[in-house]
Amino acid sequence: MTTEVDIGQVAADARRVLLGNRQQGISEWGGRAYSFVCPSPRSYPFQWFWDSCFHAIALLSIDAELAKQELRCLLQAAQPDGFIPHMLLWEKEAHAAALLDYSIVLADPFYTSTVQPPVLARAVWRVYQATKDHAFLLEVLPPTMRFFRWLKAYRDPDDDHLIALIQPDESGLDASPKYDRLMSLDDVPTEGIADALIHNMQRLFGAYAPHREDPARLLGLDVFNWEDVMVNSIYADGLQCLGGLCREAGYPPAEAAEFERRARRVLASLEEKCWDERAGVFWDLYGYEESRAHTLTFTSLFPLVIDSLDRHMVWRLVEEHLLNEHEFWLPYPIPSVAATEPSFDPDYRSRAMWRGPTWLNPNYYVYWGLRAHGYRDVATELAKRTVQMIGKSGMREFFNPYTGEGYGATDFGWTALVLDLIHAEGWGR
Ligand code: GLC
Repeated sequence: MTTEVDIGQVAADARRVLLGNRQQGISEWGGRAYSFVCPSPRSYPFQWFWDSCFHAIALLSIDAELAKQELRCLLQAAQPDGFIPHMLLWEKEAHAAALLDYSIVLADPFYTSTVQPPVLARAVWRVYQATKDHAFLLEVLPPTMRFFRWLKAYRDPDDDHLIALIQPDESGLDASPKYDRLMSLDDVPTEGIADALIHNMQRLFGAYAPHREDPARLLGLDVFNWEDVMVNSIYADGLQCLGGLCREAGYPPAEAAEFERRARRVLASLEEKCWDERAGVFWDLYGYEESRAHTLTFTSLFPLVIDSLDRHMVWRLVEEHLLNEHEFWLPYPIPSVAATEPSFDPDYRSRAMWRGPTWLNPNYYVYWGLRAHGYRDVATELAKRTVQMIGKSGMREFFNPYTGEGYGATDFGWTALVLDLIHAEGWGR
């Protein structure tokens, strides 16, 4: 790579964070032993679902045993009906003060009642590809399959193959402006967004409170019923991975076929219901009427991560939007919101997340999507600028897409996904 950045230093920093953020011990939660990488010791001391999946992928560049451990720890929360929570509160007592900062609803004293994007199947796939550890596969595949079946049973009430979210942070994109309308943030000045969001989350929880005993009914209330393109792309990718994993595990062919068929149906629904031929992007759907949410965020490009996406759609997403210097191809791509949006907040003035800055997890996914679709050079350029951004500002949670300045948590776990890009580009040697 022809740049001033010291790749060895970036990689060493990423390894330092992954090794330094480990939390381990015996929990009051039934005496379970835990050992996992927390997103950031100061800001996020608990275990988060999609963070751990990304940590597992990044840990493959250090020690595959640690990657397996990360997923095993997460799966201790898998419930008999398939549900896996978005936060696991292993050291609840020690972090009681931190806990007060989160707008969450618990299903149990030690875990939340919500989900996060189903990155799990891809993480299992990556760990299995790297290790070919059959015993590990047979251990983690059943709860992973059950989780995907739970999503179908509980989160697709209109049977259109797209799963729906009950609140914004289930996508992991907490304060994305695409949710402003439903969260009544449309007219709130930038500086007031973070507080107003907390307030409006409580309103949402109030609406759900009388119905919590029956989670399958929450979407029917239609207060926040959101079919998210990013989440459903991750879901389709995960179903495809499960098909392959079922085969590797020697499961009945019908079971592998079930997941692969479902992956195709999710993609077909995305193409049919969310694609906008005029704009050349995908839009999320909200409410029972399935209105399109016309806010241009990186989510609108996310089906790029699906290998079998229609070639014409791939071309338009990449050529007209990803590489568009007025929208997403800024000096440090990929911004979480297109620069053309009125809500675009590249320097984090709102103190609310996912409103403009660049994060590592979209870059990781899109990098592999670009490679799968033959955009090898674009992928390399994306990886190069990502490494430069971290070289400049360190292992921050998110970054200014113009200057590379870092914001949010320090020593942030999934920023270590840069190790996967460095490895993939062969820059580590
Ligand atoms: C923030 C992010 C969310 C992440 C969590 C822990 O809330 O928006 O996606 O899982 O932090 O890192």
